Amino acid sequence: MAMMDLSRDRPATGEALLDCRDVQVSFDGVIALAGIDLSIAPGEVLGVIGPNGSGKTSLVNVISGYYRPTGGGVTFAGQRIDGLRPQQIRALGIARVFQNLRLFDNLTVVENVEVAMAVDLARTRGVAQASVGAMVWRRQRRLRREARLKAVRLLEDNGFAGHLDTKAGSLSYGQRKEIELLRALADPPQLLLLDEPTSGVSRAEAEQVGERIALWRERTGCTLLIVEHRLGWLFDLAERIVVLNSGSVIAEGLPEVVANDPEVRTAYVGTRDDH
Ligand SMILES: Nc1ncnc2c1ncn2[C@@H]1O[C@H](COP(=O)(O)OP(=O)(O)O)[C@@H](O)[C@H]1O
Ligand SMILES: [Mg+2]
Repeated sequence: MAMMDLSRDRPATGEALLDCRDVQVSFDGVIALAGIDLSIAPGEVLGVIGPNGSGKTSLVNVISGYYRPTGGGVTFAGQRIDGLRPQQIRALGIARVFQNLRLFDNLTVVENVEVAMAVDLARTRGVAQASVGAMVWRRQRRLRREARLKAVRLLEDNGFAGHLDTKAGSLSYGQRKEIELLRALADPPQLLLLDEPTSGVSRAEAEQVGERIALWRERTGCTLLIVEHRLGWLFDLAERIVVLNSGSVIAEGLPEVVANDPEVRTAYVGTRDDH
């Protein structure tokens, strides 16, 4: 399919914080990404949409180091990052939130955030990965205490003061998604990748997740890449939209322009924004 450029003010490549060039990913002949070109400017909120199987999660996986591209390259803040491991990429300032929840249901809310905080502190202090597990639960009491204090503060600042000792598993799905988001923010990233942050939550909860993201972004000026199937929600939040189909970018531009594009509508037949 021919690519249409619907953008009016796409950032010049030179100013990009993140730059994907001809990124390809395939698995035994299944093409997940067929050569993606995509740039994100510093501070930008980029929305990524596309039907199921179009490559959205694969793109996030490549940028965050979970997939190694079979072709092309990814540059972050002027440095090639494709081929680096997820923890190395996290250390450079790219955090990602998974599409599915990865909380420890039997731990409390504060323990869940504390673990993430401790891992981040250990990394920034240069504690070896291998000793992180032991550190969190036995040794390095001081670092653990610091992680606890910071976790409590982060949760209190974000409306969870009354839930610190609640088991994560007993929160609503929407609340758990918010905790998942806070875990990614433990060590504030420069670029945050969100994969369907509202999947599985109610409309009201989605509003709340959206407000949380917008507020946090306003406070920090963080750059965001948000994959989302709830189009109205995303079009309110994102400044620019990239549309994927079959592992390729088929359109990009301002939300209101993309929303009215016939090719985008065709790719989306059967996809609704009402759940
Ligand atoms: N680890 C994997 N192994 C095999 N195929 C994969 C893998 N990850 C993704 N794919 C395939 O790549 C395509 C894109 O998947 P994905 O990136 O998950 O799409 P989306 O997130 O847009 O739904 C699909 O055909 C999917 O089956
Ligand atoms: Mg996906």
